[in-house]
Amino acid sequence: MQALLLVGGEGTRLRPLTCKTVKAMVPILNRPFLEHLFGYLARHGVDDIVLTLCYMPDRIESYFGRGGGHGVKLTYVMEESPLGTAGAVKNAERYLKERFFVFNGDIFTDLDLGAMMAFHRERGAKATIALTPVEDPSAYGVVETGADRRVKRFVEKPKREEATTNLINAGTYVLERDVLEGVPPNTRYMFEHHLFPGLLQNDQPVYAFPSDAYWIDIGTPQKYCQVQYDLLQGKGQSSLASPAKDGRPGFGARSSLHATASVEGAVVVGDDCSVGPHVRLRGPVVMGNNCRILEGAAIESSVIWNNVTVGRNAWLEGCIVGSNSSIGEGCSVGQGVVMGEGVTVGNGIRLEPGRKVWPDTSV
Ligand code: GDD
Ligand code: MG
Repeated sequence: MQALLLVGGEGTRLRPLTCKTVKAMVPILNRPFLEHLFGYLARHGVDDIVLTLCYMPDRIESYFGRGGGHGVKLTYVMEESPLGTAGAVKNAERYLKERFFVFNGDIFTDLDLGAMMAFHRERGAKATIALTPVEDPSAYGVVETGADRRVKRFVEKPKREEATTNLINAGTYVLERDVLEGVPPNTRYMFEHHLFPGLLQNDQPVYAFPSDAYWIDIGTPQKYCQVQYDLLQGKGQSSLASPAKDGRPGFGARSSLHATASVEGAVVVGDDCSVGPHVRLRGPVVMGNNCRILEGAAIESSVIWNNVTVGRNAWLEGCIVGSNSSIGEGCSVGQGVVMGEGVTVGNGIRLEPGRKVWPDTSV
C-alpha cells in the first residue's frame, strides 16, 4: 500500500525546538519521529511512501535517503512555497496510485490501517477520514457524521461551544486519486477548508472511520513530551520503544550511573552519558546521547536532547532541553520551560515556568 506524508509545515507551535530542525525529525525516545512512523506504516503493509517537503527538506532527505534501512521506499516531492495540505498532494500527483493513504506528518497512532482501507472499499468512498475522540475539539477539525458514518459536515478549529461532537479529524485519510481533479495546481489549497467541504457540497461519498486506538498530534511541547511518557508506560506502540522498568534504567552503550545516584520510574538514557554522584533521576525522563549530569543535580519528568551538561545541584522539572545546551550550577528550571539548541544557562539562574529560550542564546 502507498502513503503520502505531509511534512512541509514549519512546526511553529513546537518552537524553539523546531528552529534548527523540522517537526518530523524531533527525537521521540531518542529516534527521529519519522523513524517511528515508518516502522508503524511498514508493520501495516504500507511501504511505498511519498514525502511532501517544504521547510528544511534536506534535514529529512539526508538522514533517510531512499529509505532502504527502514523497510520502506521513499520518494521526495519538494514545494518551493507551502501549497497547503491538499495542494501538496496535488503537487505529488504523478507519483500516486489510484488509491492511497494521506498522513499529517505529526501523528503518532496505532490505528488499524488495513481495517480502514477495507471500510473505504466496502463503502465505495471517494475519501475516508479517520476520526479520534478528544477532550477539546477546538484545536482540530471537527467531523459530523450520520449513523451510516457518512460525513455531513467538516468544521476546522471551531470555537469550543460550537463543536457538536468530540470526534475530530485524526489526520489520516484514504483517497481515490480522482478527487485531486478538483484541486487547482500550484495553488495553496487545504483539505480542511477547501477539498473536504467541496466534496461534501457536491454530495460525493465521504466517510468517517472512528477509532479508539492510541492517537496523539505531537505538535506542541506538552504533547511532544506526552507521547514519550505514554510510550514509556506502554501506551501506544513503537518497535523502537523499549520501556525502562522501575529501578532498572534503560541505559545506552558506554553510559555510566554513579553508585550514589538514584533512579526512579521510567528513565531512558542514550549512549555515552555520565550520571554523577548523588544525582536523582525521577521518571519519566528521556535523555539523549553524550550528556553529563553533574553531582547532586535532580531531573524529573523532562526530555533532554544530545550533548547536554547539567551543572552541580541544578534542578529540572517538566522541561525540554535542546541539544548542545549547558545548564549552570545550582540553576532551577521549572515546568513547561522549553530550551532550543545551543542554549547556555549561567550559574544560579532560575527559569520561570513556561519560559521559552531561543537557540544559541545565553541567560
Ligand atoms: N507539504 C506540506 N505543505 N505540508 C504541510 C503544509 C504545506 O503547505 N502545511 C501543513 N503541512 C503538514 C504539517 O507539516 C503537518 O504534518 C500536517 O500538514 C498538518 O499540519 P498542522 O499544522 O500540524 O495542522 P493541525 O495540527 O493544526 O491540524 C490538522 O491536523 C489535525 C489533527 O492533528 C488538521 O488536519 C485538523 O483537521 C486535524 O484535526
Ligand atoms: Mg498537527
